[in-house]
Amino acid sequence: MEIVLNYLKDNLENYLEELKEYLKIPSVSALPAHKDDMLRCAEFASKKLKDAGMNEVKIFPTEGHPIVYGEWLEKPGKPTVLIYGHYDVQPVDPLNLWKNPPFDPVISDGKIWARGANDNKGQHFVHVKAVEAFFKTLNELPLNVKFILEGEEEVGSESLVKFLKQQKELLKCDTVLISDTSMYAKGVPTITYGLRGLLYMEVEVVGPDKDLHSGSFGGAVANPINELAKIISKLHDQNGRVTVPNFYKNVLKLSKKERENFKALKLSDKQYAKEVGVKELQGEKGFSTLERLWARPTLDCNGIIGGFTDEGAKTVLPSKVTAKISMRLIPDQDPVKIAKEFSRYVKSLAPKSVKVDVRTLHYGYGVVVPIESKAIAAGATAVSKAFGKKTFFTREGGSIPVVVDFVNQLKAPAVLMGLGLDSDDIHSPNEHFLVENFEKGLYASALFIDEFSRS
Ligand code: BES
Ligand code: ZN
Repeated sequence: MEIVLNYLKDNLENYLEELKEYLKIPSVSALPAHKDDMLRCAEFASKKLKDAGMNEVKIFPTEGHPIVYGEWLEKPGKPTVLIYGHYDVQPVDPLNLWKNPPFDPVISDGKIWARGANDNKGQHFVHVKAVEAFFKTLNELPLNVKFILEGEEEVGSESLVKFLKQQKELLKCDTVLISDTSMYAKGVPTITYGLRGLLYMEVEVVGPDKDLHSGSFGGAVANPINELAKIISKLHDQNGRVTVPNFYKNVLKLSKKERENFKALKLSDKQYAKEVGVKELQGEKGFSTLERLWARPTLDCNGIIGGFTDEGAKTVLPSKVTAKISMRLIPDQDPVKIAKEFSRYVKSLAPKSVKVDVRTLHYGYGVVVPIESKAIAAGATAVSKAFGKKTFFTREGGSIPVVVDFVNQLKAPAVLMGLGLDSDDIHSPNEHFLVENFEKGLYASALFIDEFSRS
């Protein structure tokens, strides 16, 4: 193993240069204008898989963005690891807040700065390079490897979920290795065993069939923005609980043991508030911050579009307004059922003077992976060795929609080996990734492959 780890160390600079090339491709899955960039990015990723020694590298077209696959299966009798990542990134707005252009990566201050640096190009690239290092030094891997890189994670993974159902044989494996989460804190090796699900809705409230003068008509006609604001304000009660009927019905209760484990992580509310720049924290009563983030469902309005938003003043009574509202879900909440309840409830809150339309944009289920598996043990050992500390086990508030399908369809445990930090500003201007985590991630990946090959 020393030879592999040394090779990785010696090539760190080259890998960072290659990562920069990857980061230059503006692979924003949500925006149709980037469709060609998505294909270009898939081609780049497939080239990297070939260079890393993968056989059968293929780009599978989908109704959405392409899926990149590669495999090396020349160790019969040895376990197979499926390594997952996503090459798509979130939109970059607001662009003016970036200190450096989002697709012009730079390394400064021990960090690599670009959209996708952490989420997820930087994080999955470590596995590509770790695999490559085995071939360069030992001419082989000690186990079988498959890669699956998708381009729709940030928009709900619809195509990959379908692909998975049709291609169970192709993706068959003993474990799925994923680096797309956060470490508990800087320098703290972390394995995550739970993710929240997500249900993303759009609520459109329509009043008059055209914009009206707010002086001539205000007072006589319902204002859709006012009515939407009233609806949104009714979606939580005074205890911070979501009021959608049956919302909490199937939420798995936290066991006493898990509550104790969360408590033992000793999160300081004060410090946390300071880090995110708020005066104090807020949320559902009766639960600690980590419980609220990791094991309780939430509802948030993510955006409102409507009325006059340019500079200055315009006296208008808008015809319509749209809100984007998402819910983070906990096993065993069913997003399909909750979408129906939400839709019915929101409509019931609106007065007759407006029309309300509720649409589902996408959804994914929450997941909790049992931590007693050889794969998770190998993951915990690998990150512990790479970072030189004892591994923490966490859940996370974010979502990776396909994980539940990996676990259920492939019957394989997922090892969530996060290398990012919550302070890396993913989805936000000035996203970055610690060079130190990239480097230690390379070692952790190689150590995992070695460790798991012996299980
Ligand atoms: N890498 C994140 C998920 C994540 C972030 C997990 C931080 C744990 C900690 C992933 O790329 C992501 O952003 N997922 C989306 C999924 C959604 C658009 C379906 C999310 O959570 O919003
Ligand atoms: Zn993301």
